[in-house]
Amino acid sequence: MDQSGKSEFLPGFWYAALPSEELRRKGMRRQRLFGLPLLFVRDGSGAVHALDDHCPHRGIPLSDGSFDGWEIECCYHGWRFSCSGQCTAIPSLTPDSSVNPGRIKVRTYESAESDGLIWIYKRKSKEPLPPVPFLEKPSENYTLQVLSRTMRCEMDHGIIGLMDPAHGPFVHQAWWWRTGKSIHEKEKRFEPIDYGFRMSAHNPSSNSAAYKLLKIYGEPITTTIDFVLPNRRIEKIRSGKFWYSSLAVVTPVDELETRLDFVAAWNVFRGVPFLKSIQRYFGSKFIDQDKRIMEKQAAGLRDRPNLMLIDGADTPAKWYFQLKNAYQKSVEEGTEFENPIHEPVTLRWRS
Ligand code: FES
Ligand SMILES: [Fe+2]
Repeated sequence: MDQSGKSEFLPGFWYAALPSEELRRKGMRRQRLFGLPLLFVRDGSGAVHALDDHCPHRGIPLSDGSFDGWEIECCYHGWRFSCSGQCTAIPSLTPDSSVNPGRIKVRTYESAESDGLIWIYKRKSKEPLPPVPFLEKPSENYTLQVLSRTMRCEMDHGIIGLMDPAHGPFVHQAWWWRTGKSIHEKEKRFEPIDYGFRMSAHNPSSNSAAYKLLKIYGEPITTTIDFVLPNRRIEKIRSGKFWYSSLAVVTPVDELETRLDFVAAWNVFRGVPFLKSIQRYFGSKFIDQDKRIMEKQAAGLRDRPNLMLIDGADTPAKWYFQLKNAYQKSVEEGTEFENPIHEPVTLRWRS
């Protein structure tokens, strides 16, 4: 957060824009991100393109126009644009006009698709594109699930909420997850990784029912939870040949609103009828609990009260701000990013 308490996003990363299934072939979708009005289209071949959602003529949103799968037509004066933003036709031009549509372009952004999400790249300068984020999937057959929400809260609070170990028993209290009575002291080892930190454990959250389910396979369970800049929480659980991976990202829509996109893949219980719907039901409940608490917090934060981050349970949040500051400094000064977390640390808290 800057001096005014506003969340600033970091350039030089891929950000999740929307779930793939929300953009059908030959369809278009407007989606504001980073305070920018963006237009996403999926062309007739299935490829996704991201453009500035303004007509370069007189600024009307292109998303108010029409799209035939190859060209976008503005609804005001019918100017047409290819998916790469090139103006291809200006209906009002006379043959002797000196206006050249070939010189008119809508701004475009790099976009990509992976694991059920559409991503957009936010540039630092002319750097080469890093790989698009993806889930680690240790076997070929798996179930994939995407859940997305828009929350009325600022990005930074959404992100530290992802890495907050102490809210579980209070926000996610449910018989199938964990109960208030199950709070006990935890001790977890954290270590620095590229652009973030990792929590590794060999006996994950023994008080949660969801993990207990994996135990029925009888193999030891290992789990890692990574936080990686700019906004990614990556969880991996393995138990013998069974695995579960998830990626949660928090992306700013504008100063007041944030997207939470969650994608999970697993090869556990495949073939159980209705399992995907059951998991969607519980996944949605879980993510809605986070959304509700984030929005309540945002209501409190409107008065800009003083905040506290305490050692132990809030240390990951402190690390997030340190990582973010170090990254911003490296961009401003044009220097190599250096992880401010230098060595493994053991944290203790009760949850
Ligand atoms: S405003 Fe788009 S064609 Fe005129
Ligand atoms: Fe949560």
